[in-house]
Amino acid sequence: MIQEQLFDEAAIAARVRELGAAISKDYAGKNPMILGVLTSSAVFVGDLTRSIEIPCEFDFIALSRYSDTEGIRFIKDTTASVEGRHILLVEDTIDTGLTLQYVLKTLRERQAASVEICTLLDRKQRRIAGMDVKYRGFEIPDVFVVGYGLDYQGRYRELPALYSHGSWPK
Ligand code: XMP
Ligand code: MG
Repeated sequence: MIQEQLFDEAAIAARVRELGAAISKDYAGKNPMILGVLTSSAVFVGDLTRSIEIPCEFDFIALSRYSDTEGIRFIKDTTASVEGRHILLVEDTIDTGLTLQYVLKTLRERQAASVEICTLLDRKQRRIAGMDVKYRGFEIPDVFVVGYGLDYQGRYRELPALYSHGSWPK
């Protein structure tokens, strides 16, 4: 059940514009590959790429995760090779960090020129795998979040704002 609104449309749009401006400055001349982690980052990637004012490309990966300690695998890989590319990984939320830790390791093994992270939301208190997060939209408390692409069992992705949800998915 949806509880309170955490960030409204205007606050999200303003923060996404700031992130886009910082990314545009840092990646000028580098033709970065924006790499979104499906499905819940799709709305964020759509808005973020439109706020980036330099040439870039974007693509998506999808992962399946079976448990906290093992069994992360790609169910959709990148379309093009990442070798020699400047990759900006885009997530909706970093929680334990285990998902991105796996992706970072894989992209480095594939010899990307650089890999940085951009997350809309960061729930730092649940972090297990530490990592540098270069671009961060908002820090959130220990609540499950829905809306703006984020779902509870497939629901609420279409909502334009971000809300806390009363329970965590099983
Ligand atoms: P880890 O623990 O690997 O988790 O950092 C990151 C993945 O879990 C998803 N996630 C959420 N999805 N609402 C969501 O809809 C949330 O509050 C939430 N917290 C984590 C996230 O999409 C990411 O892929
Ligand atoms: Mg996700």
